[in-house]
Amino acid sequence: MMEISVQGIALKYKEKIPEEFIRSKDVQPGITTVEGTALEVPVIDLRNPDEEKILESIVDASQKWGMFQVVNHEIPGEVISKLQLVGREFFELPEEEKEKEVYVKPVEVDQYDAGTLSLEGYGTKLQREVQGKKGWVDHLFHKIWPPSAVNYHFWPKNPSYREANEEYAKWVQGAVGGENLVYLAKINYYPPCPQPEVVLGVVAHTDMNNITILVPNDVQGLQAFRDGLWYDVKCIPNALVIHIGDQMEILSNGRYKSVLHRTRVNKEKTRMSWPVFLEPPADFQVGPHPKLVNENNPAKYKTKKYSDYVYCKLNKIPQ
Ligand code: SIN
Ligand code: FE2
Repeated sequence: MMEISVQGIALKYKEKIPEEFIRSKDVQPGITTVEGTALEVPVIDLRNPDEEKILESIVDASQKWGMFQVVNHEIPGEVISKLQLVGREFFELPEEEKEKEVYVKPVEVDQYDAGTLSLEGYGTKLQREVQGKKGWVDHLFHKIWPPSAVNYHFWPKNPSYREANEEYAKWVQGAVGGENLVYLAKINYYPPCPQPEVVLGVVAHTDMNNITILVPNDVQGLQAFRDGLWYDVKCIPNALVIHIGDQMEILSNGRYKSVLHRTRVNKEKTRMSWPVFLEPPADFQVGPHPKLVNENNPAKYKTKKYSDYVYCKLNKIPQ
């Protein structure tokens, strides 16, 4: 049995939410967001016949923004709609039904567990949060690629869920490759919140993996930190949001930037997002690429096992 879901909290508290969700003023989105200007992060059109130009824009955006959006990608609209549909269907099940469908993380292991090295399963907590505050979000994690890394124990049992996720995994693999990378899929479910200005969905963080490919629904919520301020990121219909994660910053010895981002939630609408984290296998040594390091450019990051990197990050231990 898990701790009550945020979805359950949202149904119970219609006006005033429990204290444990209310953020300190220095991070409340109602106070710390530059209102009225949505950030237009670079939009890269993958159907541009000039492939060199595409590559150039990706490099440029990775260095200057740490994020971008792609349009006219190869993944068919139906494949994405189906992924969204089965995810929403799962989260809309009553809590007892969800628990029959999927592995529910017990409260005490609902974080990155050094023993199992696994984030997989359905739950509410991820990082040990500052001052014990909670994010206004429920989530589900499971790996979707390569097939040898998949453990269906962590997937909802519904056959259409499996079919849609396998199909999506194939398309992502075809589009981005990443031979030795593992794809960890997540669904974020942010229920409507009566006091959206004082809560955060996901707290400010950089992604710890290489690259994240994210499908949002049409409810605004993603924010990025730029020049010392928080901005809403403009939603573009049918675009995929790409985050450069810590491992790209490390591999490039700091040339690429992993972007600091967070999410806010909506008063009336449910926001959902479907990120896929492309990450190295747990025992892979991660560090700056040897070709980028020399006497004039010393390594800015330590080389270590990816699982150690993740463990330190989630437990807030300096790297
Ligand atoms: C996340 O960064 O984990 C969530 C981003 C989003 O929901 O858009
Ligand atoms: Fe993220």
